[in-house]
Amino acid sequence: MIKEVLKMGDPKLLKPSEPITEFNTPFLKTLITDMHDTMAALNGAGLAAPQIGVGYQVVIFGVTHNPRYPEAEPVPYTVLINPELTPLSGEIEEDWEGCLSIPGMRGIVPRYKKLHYRGYDLDGTIIDRTCDGFHARVVQHETDHLLGILYPMRIRDLRLFGYTDTLFPGENVQDD
Ligand code: NI
Repeated sequence: MIKEVLKMGDPKLLKPSEPITEFNTPFLKTLITDMHDTMAALNGAGLAAPQIGVGYQVVIFGVTHNPRYPEAEPVPYTVLINPELTPLSGEIEEDWEGCLSIPGMRGIVPRYKKLHYRGYDLDGTIIDRTCDGFHARVVQHETDHLLGILYPMRIRDLRLFGYTDTLFPGENVQDD
């Protein structure tokens, strides 16, 4: 079911999420289905459970061709539960990000370029991956939601934060 996405200003987005302790439950299946339906309806690259008001450590992400990120490299569709991230170097990359909880805006956000992540899928099977670039950016953005962190809180130069249609006039970057 498509759910309402909470917007920045809602205190639920600032609260750290609880870990999942039981896998493959009806609760978890319904949550993941709702997240999938909501992300697909909005062409999101990712979604975290607290964005639909559920305070558990569940994120989904994936990009094939996304009109919101037309130049982004593909990211495999992934359900990631209780994620743990480990940066693999100190190297930082800055690039544009948006968020379904902050519609119509983009900002330049620093992220680790390369990282390792570990977590579980719906069945409790371990996911263990190394990634870089846009994939690493998406994982960091979504995991931040589980810590109560929204991307504007990471922006180093707030002059590089603004409205999508003003930042990219005529480029037909989809408005959130
Ligand atoms: Ni977001």
